[in-house]
Order: sequence, then structure tokens, then C-alpha cells
Amino acid sequence: MLQKSIVELLNAQINKELFSAYLYLDMADFYASAGLEGFENWFKVQALEEQDHAMLFRQYVLNNGHDITLSAIADPSREYKDFKEPLAAALEHERYVTDSINTIYSEAIKVKDYRTVQFLDWFVKEQGEEEKNAEDNLRKFELFGTGKGLYMLDRDLKARVHTAPSLVLD
Ligand code: FEO
Repeated sequence: MLQKSIVELLNAQINKELFSAYLYLDMADFYASAGLEGFENWFKVQALEEQDHAMLFRQYVLNNGHDITLSAIADPSREYKDFKEPLAAALEHERYVTDSINTIYSEAIKVKDYRTVQFLDWFVKEQGEEEKNAEDNLRKFELFGTGKGLYMLDRDLKARVHTAPSLVLD
């Protein structure tokens, strides 16, 4: 059994991860409309990763004998004025998700739920990678995001493939 406060935060995190998937799919659609298939691919893969994250939180809640509470996913669509804006928004969003994971982590320590702390360790590390990826994309765009550089960056981003998360819950 987990504490009520932890179950509520974990259920809310499922929603946040699914919203992340939705947000990144909207960004993929924005780049698709502009014909930038590499950027589209990168964000499509990112959306799949976010779905993986949601499923891990779901499975952890179920494995501990609690119910899942799914709530409405907010509309993620925004008007992006240029190709850089989604990259900056993605970095901002990942920082928000890191804060959210840290909040659950703090609560788990407060209520001495060390099982959840151990589960969240994977996500703490993952958020480090997520923020770095978002920072790298933004920095590369700032360096090379015009003319032929944009073409080559788009080609590089097309190579990203989805891989299953290293954390497996039965
Ligand atoms: Fe699931 Fe990008 O954090």
C-alpha cells in the first residue's frame, strides 16, 4: 500500500506524461506542415517516449494495489511563430516535468515511502537526459538553424528511433 498523497501525485503524473505526449505530437504536426520531416520524426518519437512514461507510472500504481484515476488531457495546441519556438517550449516543458517528479520524490521521502523513491530514481535520471536533449536541440538550432544548416539538422533528427525504456515493470 502507498500513502494517499503519493497515489494522487502518481495519478496526476500519468496525466502530465500523456499531456507531454500530446504536446510533442502537436509540435510534430507543426513541423510536418512545414515539410521538416526530421523535426517531425524527433517529436513523434518523443511523444512515444512520453506514452512509455505514462504506462510506467500506471503499472507502478497498479502493482501497489491502487486504482488508476484518468483525467482529461488539456488541449496542447499552440500557434508557433517560427521553427525555434517549439524547441524552447519543449525545454521549458521538460523543466516543468522535472519539477513535478521532484515534488513526488520529496513527498515520498517525507512519508518514508522508500519504494517509491527507488522507483522514481529512474525518472530523476531520465529527466536529466530529457533536459539535455531539449537543450541540445535548441543549441543546435541556434547554431545551424538556417539555410543548408537547417536541411542538415532536419536530416540528422530523422535518424531518431523509438526504443523501449530501460525500466521494465511486470
Ligand atoms: Fe516524461 Fe519528457 O518527461
